[in-house]
Amino acid sequence: LASSLTATSVSAKAAQNPSVPNDYTAVWSRQAAEQVKLTSENTAPKIDTNFKLAAPDVWIWDTWPLQNRDGSLAVVNGYRIAFALVAPRTFGWNDRHTEARIGMFYSKDGVDWTYAGIPYDYDKAYGHMQWAGSAMLDKKGKIHLFYTATTDMNAGGGKEWDQNGWVQRAEQRLAKTTFDIKADDSGVKLINEGQHQIIAEPDGKYYETIEQFHDGGHNITAFRDPFFFQDPNTGKEYIIFEGQVGGKSSEQKLKPENIGDEEYRSTHTVPDRAELYDGNIGIAEVTDKDASKLKLLPPLLESIGTNHQVERPHMYIKGNDYYLMTISHTFTYAPGLTGPDGVYGFHNEGGIRGDYKPLNGSGLVVANPKESPYQAYSWMVLPDETAISFINEPLDENGNVKHGGTFAPTLQLSFEGDKTKIVGELQHGEIRDFGPYLSAKDVTKMEKKNS
Ligand code: FRU
Repeated sequence: LASSLTATSVSAKAAQNPSVPNDYTAVWSRQAAEQVKLTSENTAPKIDTNFKLAAPDVWIWDTWPLQNRDGSLAVVNGYRIAFALVAPRTFGWNDRHTEARIGMFYSKDGVDWTYAGIPYDYDKAYGHMQWAGSAMLDKKGKIHLFYTATTDMNAGGGKEWDQNGWVQRAEQRLAKTTFDIKADDSGVKLINEGQHQIIAEPDGKYYETIEQFHDGGHNITAFRDPFFFQDPNTGKEYIIFEGQVGGKSSEQKLKPENIGDEEYRSTHTVPDRAELYDGNIGIAEVTDKDASKLKLLPPLLESIGTNHQVERPHMYIKGNDYYLMTISHTFTYAPGLTGPDGVYGFHNEGGIRGDYKPLNGSGLVVANPKESPYQAYSWMVLPDETAISFINEPLDENGNVKHGGTFAPTLQLSFEGDKTKIVGELQHGEIRDFGPYLSAKDVTKMEKKNS
């Protein structure tokens, strides 16, 4: 099995931006991350702990809508569809990751969601648990569900030595399956579940394998969270994902650019072990119509020395502006740096591969407020510049944590060049009917029409 699957070989094609070589990897440097600061433009309103549960029997966390190939929201016979990681509430809040499955929700208005259970046979799915992904509806009406197949953290994931002794860690691969959809007056059902397939695994060169991680790696490795999208300017299709810099963990080194510019480097001391915090955002080119054949490419961005996890990466494209978005945590910042749990973003003009610059100078786009620093997580920025997320661990008036596990209020953002701000708050779990990513030509047409 494994040998035929590693046909996902690395090639250095698919650069769109002529100003960088086609194996160019942009950097989120220590210097940029040091600029991270909460402001009125990036701080989310405090979430009220008197929230209603969208599905009372399950914890809900990472959520994504069903999108058409062009990025627009799929609306099937009047229904919007969303997927989310779910686990029975009979499991403890912190045990949910090892019991994660992908649940399905549907809604007519994008506010009231009906939980319709787990749409696939999890004995047929890859992984002991299924972690985050994305979902695309093709023109023939097939749903392509991309997910992370993760081995049991407590068995078979490989072993790692830490101060507590031998521990097991989750091995991750990218997987997919397909469905047909039936949507009528009685609701939405996914039928004709296809075969489950592994579509990519780490190559060891650009993306760390579990074995390389076990050679001195920090915390947990990543090869997860596949996000499918089509570039409106070229029609090419890609899957981006969260990875870790390839190579043995014990042999990781920072390049000067991971630290900052010359002036910054002359005064900045990098603390020990910073090089073990080695997140990257990976990319693979989709080479078939079913998005099941992928060609791994060098990463788009790396955060080695800065942050260990750049999770659930996704794209937002508006004309020539490419926004590479990702979520990250306070606890995953490298030694000597800190920042909030939030959504971070990077901007490049002219193509998918380029010298992405951190939005707003630091990368920070949405932060949890200081008075409730873990209230929400796993934001996803949609093509209408709204950001959905889930309620994580908000604090009530007395400073006590209340476990969430349901949809958080959607935020309205605005993106202008390399600047963003939060401009409003919508309802819990609200997903509006958004259009596709716009090509540069579409944007010019629209501007002409408006003038
Ligand atoms: C983000 C995340 C994802 C992963 C899932 C596991 O919240 O860490 O990267 O797929 O949660 O529960």
